[in-house]
Amino acid sequence: MAKFKTMKYTSVSWLLFFGLIIPSCLAYNVVNFGAKGDGKTDSTLAFLGAWSAACTSTSPSNVYIPQGTFLVRTLSFNGPCRARIEFRIDGMLIAPVDYNAIGKSEFWIMFYKVSELIVYGGTIDAKGDGYWSCRKGGGSCPQGARSIQFMWCNNVLLRGLKSLYSQRVHVGIGYSSNVRIEYVAIIAPSGSPNTDGIHVQNSRGVTIYGSNIKTGDDCVSIGSGSMNLWIEKVACGPGHGISIGSLGQVNNEPGVANVTVVNSVFTKTQNGVRIKSWARPSDGFAKNLNFRNLVMRNVGYPIIIDQNYCPDNSCPRQSSGVKVSEVTFKNVQGTSSTQAAIKFDCSPSNPCSGIKLQDIKLTFNDRLRRPAFAYCANARGSHGGTVIPKSCF
Ligand SMILES: *[C@@H]1O[C@H](CO)[C@@H](O)[C@H](O)[C@H]1NC(C)=O
Repeated sequence: MAKFKTMKYTSVSWLLFFGLIIPSCLAYNVVNFGAKGDGKTDSTLAFLGAWSAACTSTSPSNVYIPQGTFLVRTLSFNGPCRARIEFRIDGMLIAPVDYNAIGKSEFWIMFYKVSELIVYGGTIDAKGDGYWSCRKGGGSCPQGARSIQFMWCNNVLLRGLKSLYSQRVHVGIGYSSNVRIEYVAIIAPSGSPNTDGIHVQNSRGVTIYGSNIKTGDDCVSIGSGSMNLWIEKVACGPGHGISIGSLGQVNNEPGVANVTVVNSVFTKTQNGVRIKSWARPSDGFAKNLNFRNLVMRNVGYPIIIDQNYCPDNSCPRQSSGVKVSEVTFKNVQGTSSTQAAIKFDCSPSNPCSGIKLQDIKLTFNDRLRRPAFAYCANARGSHGGTVIPKSCF
């Protein structure tokens, strides 16, 4: 099984977790269930067969995908299972070139109601470019699939996966808790529509660590009902940055609380760290958000709260009901590609409160050497240390 070179980052509980799973592992190799790593043979049923054997095993087991390229259609790995499972990928999974094959379902690879799960290594390539062309052409396209989705899963480690060219979101986490995502690489071109790197929704205790995300939409997007999230050492760009939102599209919505983003780098992204809500009534909120030790390299809006999100003018003259409070930005340094390096465009009916800026140095990357500025509307807060551009608080 896996060698873990960077053990020092792994918490004690995860070591125990590995310790329990490694000694007595039953291996279910997909090849023994009829999969062929030739890039052509449809191996969907073989994968499902290996899963079902592992999931019904009463002792910890291992689903093993060896070297090779395995063509698979939609895979739903359903639980609950009877013991821990490691899903170990040494090879590569590819989706059919015809985007309809997976694009009519919401996901390509789904883990549903599976707890005590490790998904380790490998590459998955959804071959999304045909689907993006359809979207850009404005024709009628299927809804599009997320590449890998965890729904109602607890105690999950996703480690060392490389996800390429998803039709939509690359990695989705929904209604799950205690999920650690580390050392993943996500790649889609800038401009590929809605190809968010990692999307978290209605989940608690999600950690994203040491990952590299290049994509056409948000590197990480955090939807309603998300709490206790920790994002550390993420390299983002191209992409739209790390975003909380869009929140508040509907009247009744669970909020977002306790999100930390630290020690991360943004390169040529549209935004750095962003909070975004629809300009329409809602009871949602975003509070206790901490952004620390971030480097911005030529980023459009390094620090931004946008509560006037309203594509296609679908909410005329309305104001966001989402309450944004207790947001700290500390030690954020680098350059912006627009003059408004700090932008707080908050809701007139629900002003932002408790915004703290400390030790900020952002300069406008401008040939004419114009200075960056901070824009504030309906925002209240404080500043400490040196804040450049000058804070509006
Ligand atoms: C906030 O989330 C972190 C994990 O990111 C957790 O360790 C901490 O206990 C949470 N704080 C509160 C007040 O829930």
